[in-house]
Amino acid sequence: MIIISNSPEETVEIGRHIGRHLIKGLNVFICGELGAGKTTLIKGAASAFGIPERDITSATYTLIAGYESQTPFYHIDLYRLDDIKSIEEAGVFDCIGNGKAAAIEWAEKLAGYADGDIRVDIAYGNNDRRIIKIEGIDEKDWDYSPAW
Ligand SMILES: Nc1ncnc2c1ncn2[C@@H]1O[C@H](COP(=O)(O)OP(=O)(O)O)[C@@H](O)[C@H]1O
Ligand SMILES: [Mg+2]
Repeated sequence: MIIISNSPEETVEIGRHIGRHLIKGLNVFICGELGAGKTTLIKGAASAFGIPERDITSATYTLIAGYESQTPFYHIDLYRLDDIKSIEEAGVFDCIGNGKAAAIEWAEKLAGYADGDIRVDIAYGNNDRRIIKIEGIDEKDWDYSPAW
């Protein structure tokens, strides 16, 4: 499924819909260049767990931010981890699977080592437009009717 976002607010909204699936204990692997909107999307996903958007940040040195919730939620940013050994040592694999929910930025780095239940790829379009490709959610389970 491909959804076009025209603003950060729309990307948050798309993230919110993905979050509704994550609360079942799934993970989302997010790919896309710097500034594509990965963190923005995760703000929406986190809101499904009752986490305020402002709590989700792209803090430079935070690799894993965990949030208590009925289903524990982890925001993982692999930007600063360059090889699979450092990813493993950081404890990333402990946050994936077993009924936990995780949203992972720079998931390209896990290719061949782990698979996402839901996979999102965000590409730049013109101006504020983003082309958001979503795999792992059936279109019929996407109760999102865009207003544009
Ligand atoms: N349609 C859009 N979706 C998401 N972000 C957008 C969009 N249009 C512009 N932006 C801007 O792009 C930037 C995305 O930043 P961020 O979510 O931190 O990206 P990433 O985590 O992929 O590096 C923000 O400054 C945001 O305001
Ligand atoms: Mg980010």
